[in-house]
Amino acid sequence: MKISARVKSIAPSATLAVTNKANALKAQGVDVVGFGAGEPDFDTPDFIKEAAKKALDAGFTKYTPSAGTPELRKAIAEKFKKDNGIEYTPEQILVSCGAKHSIYNAVQTLVDPGDEVIFQAPYWVSYPEFVRAAGGTPVIIPAGVEQEFKMTADQVHEAITNKTTLCILNSPSNPTGAVYTKEELLAIMDVLSDHGVSVISDEIYEKLLYDGLEHVCVPALAPEYKESTILVNGVSKTYSMTGWRIGYLAGPKDVVAAMSRLQDHSTSNPTSISQRAALAALQGDQSIVQTMLKAFDERRRYMVGALNEIPGVRCPMPKGAFYVFPDVSGCYNKPLKGGKVVKTSFEMADYLLETARAAVVPGGAFGDDRCIRLSYATSLEQIKKGIERIAEALA
Ligand SMILES: Cc1ncc(COP(=O)(O)O)c(C=O)c1O
Repeated sequence: MKISARVKSIAPSATLAVTNKANALKAQGVDVVGFGAGEPDFDTPDFIKEAAKKALDAGFTKYTPSAGTPELRKAIAEKFKKDNGIEYTPEQILVSCGAKHSIYNAVQTLVDPGDEVIFQAPYWVSYPEFVRAAGGTPVIIPAGVEQEFKMTADQVHEAITNKTTLCILNSPSNPTGAVYTKEELLAIMDVLSDHGVSVISDEIYEKLLYDGLEHVCVPALAPEYKESTILVNGVSKTYSMTGWRIGYLAGPKDVVAAMSRLQDHSTSNPTSISQRAALAALQGDQSIVQTMLKAFDERRRYMVGALNEIPGVRCPMPKGAFYVFPDVSGCYNKPLKGGKVVKTSFEMADYLLETARAAVVPGGAFGDDRCIRLSYATSLEQIKKGIERIAEALA
């Protein structure tokens, strides 16, 4: 059967590949420490589960409006107003099957074949594939460890051509945990708005910020940015609800209506029961966020300290999300344990899995081959064990 050129151009997910390899070893009885997780290791709070059970018992098991229930869209509009100081009407909101689906819908709606889409490396693995799936061309700005994993307004300016239509921003970031300041975002947005470039602002890690930092919501920075930006968020990371698959976006009414039409003919509504659970999450007790943050913060500090003690490893302190992204290139091209030499982040991830029984994700999958990504969404005990093993393997 013929596979379309668009779909052929999509790369497999490196994160899933790591999980598969680690699971295969675990199945053989090997004690592997997993640093691959892209989800909080906490359970979904009980009151959210209760809301889902109630929805089931009440027979709330049928189609809902494709863009999401009116109550949930209203609650999302209230969340944006309360947390981000930005006003949207419920018609400006689209609820989808996870923030991944929200961004997919947005890229499909905003990108034509031949359009150029700007974002930085390190980037979240799915961004280039979303763009390719729409026939667009990813234009990737290098933003390595030397510049704290953040692109500058000057770099954005240089990357813009007459084919640029869209830029994707992600702060706090996966995979680096980097957080842009308000000034940095204003400078970048000024350049984009001068050139009429639209923006997707992926703010899924909004609540996971350390050291007292406050979240900067991009479209809330100026009325003209609200007109040019699609704001993306969701319940996956904030309420430990990755499996429930609820994400959402907000933007200008006509654009959201177009995205909604796309959803009408692909998935229809996200699961009715999950929508009730997401409603409870947004309106209920928010204490899970503080509980997770406290644990993540302790693990973050331990992990960065321990990684920086390993010769050849340079690990900046992330300011958000639950990942560290150390530069391990100082350990490339020299003999490691058993005389093994690694030259890339992919070889390093394989080496660490085989030698240290630690599953990490190669930075190359995020556009930076000098680094590896480790998630600290796992217990401190596991983290200590895994880092000790990594230190030994890199000694
Ligand atoms: C940066 C970023 N955006 C979006 C998502 C999608 O989240 P979900 O589809 O689970 O809501 C993720 C998940 O890993 C992410 O890291």
